[in-house]
Amino acid sequence: MGVAHGWWTEAVIYQIYPRSFADSDGDGIGDLPGITARLGHLAELGVDAVWLSPFYPSPQADAGYDVADYRDVDPLFGSLADADALIAEARAKGLKVIVDLVPNHTSSAHRWFRAAVTAAPGSPERARYVFRDGLGPDGATPPNDWQSVFGGPAWTRLVEPDGRPGQWYLHLFDPAQPDLNWDNPEIRAEFLDVLRFWLDRGVDGFRVDVAHGLIKQADLANWEEPQEILSGNEVDKPRPPMWDQDGVHEIYRDWRRVLDSYDGARILVAEAWVEPAERIARYVRPDEMHQAFNFEYLLAAWTAPAQYAVITRSLEATDAVGAPTTWVLSNHDVIRHASRMGLSAKGGRPNGIGIGDPQPDAALGLRRARAATLLMLALPGSAYLYQGEELGLPEHTTLPDESRQDPTWERSGHTQRGRDGCRVPIPWEADAPSYGFGPTDASWLPQPPLWAEYALDRQQGVSGSTYETYRTALRLRREHGLGRGTLGWLSSGDEVLSFRNAGLTVLTNFGAAAVPPPAGELLHSSAPLDADGRVPTDVTVWVRH
Ligand code: GLC
Repeated sequence: MGVAHGWWTEAVIYQIYPRSFADSDGDGIGDLPGITARLGHLAELGVDAVWLSPFYPSPQADAGYDVADYRDVDPLFGSLADADALIAEARAKGLKVIVDLVPNHTSSAHRWFRAAVTAAPGSPERARYVFRDGLGPDGATPPNDWQSVFGGPAWTRLVEPDGRPGQWYLHLFDPAQPDLNWDNPEIRAEFLDVLRFWLDRGVDGFRVDVAHGLIKQADLANWEEPQEILSGNEVDKPRPPMWDQDGVHEIYRDWRRVLDSYDGARILVAEAWVEPAERIARYVRPDEMHQAFNFEYLLAAWTAPAQYAVITRSLEATDAVGAPTTWVLSNHDVIRHASRMGLSAKGGRPNGIGIGDPQPDAALGLRRARAATLLMLALPGSAYLYQGEELGLPEHTTLPDESRQDPTWERSGHTQRGRDGCRVPIPWEADAPSYGFGPTDASWLPQPPLWAEYALDRQQGVSGSTYETYRTALRLRREHGLGRGTLGWLSSGDEVLSFRNAGLTVLTNFGAAAVPPPAGELLHSSAPLDADGRVPTDVTVWVRH
């Protein structure tokens, strides 16, 4: 199958979490002018594009993934004019801009949901969402047994305008995030228009939130399993009735036609927690989306066989549909890889770490994270970085529980700590208030004192720092065209992985003993070689042969 080519097929795309990137006005919450002022950092780092998590008007029940108006900017983050300025400045710096689109659900504060609540059962207003009568004589039992991803039932019962208990509405996430009814043509038309709104403002693409959730099995059949944000479908289990239904693909084919009617290459990126790789590949068929996140890669254990298997499978699955493979190690929903890789359980992925939990080994985690990043950035395809990982930033694993904001913490009855630990505002200057995040000490989640040592200004120009390691990797990746190369395995044993790509030999040592580097000129390594010039455990090297 012919492989697609375009800026995105080899792009390194940097995820900005607007709340936590840079705060221009000192209220403790990051904003668009803050981002615009810091775009120079990203150009210097050497990424190709930024993806911004949602900045739309929102009650912030799920940090902005509860959108009340898809065509505006929340005053918390700035204004539409600020968004335009950001897009213009990014373009001037040679960076593409991808915005987040949240089509599975709106906020309960969206005008449509407000109208649905006051309208009658069976009305067109209710038909935009998934309303059902309850079961049992008084309708007090939810329409089915689905669980919300954040814990608790996926249904909430309304109080009707006359004060009587009424219908139930579906929310796969928080009750403040009612699911839209994508069988309704009005919803489809609305989102085509939202796409045009942002395309007209000059964005280069959309990251599509919960892309596998829009269509539900028509009978809303029971599914007793709990829903986890991090779990896809197990390969050997039947597909859950709320995820990865075949009907979603028609929606993305419609969207693709809209994007293709614009100049330049505008892209769609699927966030779909779906397994196996062949099911994910269906989202990136030639007339659908351009990319899908490779969560199987993110979740793979740090062992040579596991990494070999996931890389091979990922390349095969996307090659079969002519799409670029993508790679990702961290985002705003998972434990930062510098901490995740320092946990003792291999491949373990607890949903948040807090006070009293077993703590990661920070040094081991960072060492592995840097090795993993150099391995990832040497692979052909497109790679995603999450803000702060270029600083080697760990998860905040001792965040006081009373400051937690992720609805998961409350909804799970304090059993799942949730995702706040990876969302803490990032450090720019070691000695400034809020470590340079903003002009004041304010920070919507408390920053730990150890942020000082990770601050950008402590790492710039310091050879071997995580920041300089990323910068060098990104420069070499571009110079050698690694993103558009072809991978050829040299060794895939239990201890060492090595492959060739675009004139480089890449080797990662997973074993206990140091190994000799490949022959050739050493271009880059994730940590120094040992005194005998060998590659130590948990180190990746790039060699020109
Ligand atoms: C996606 C987002 C996550 C959000 C959820 C509901 O998984 O990445 O942050 O909570 O969708 O919108």
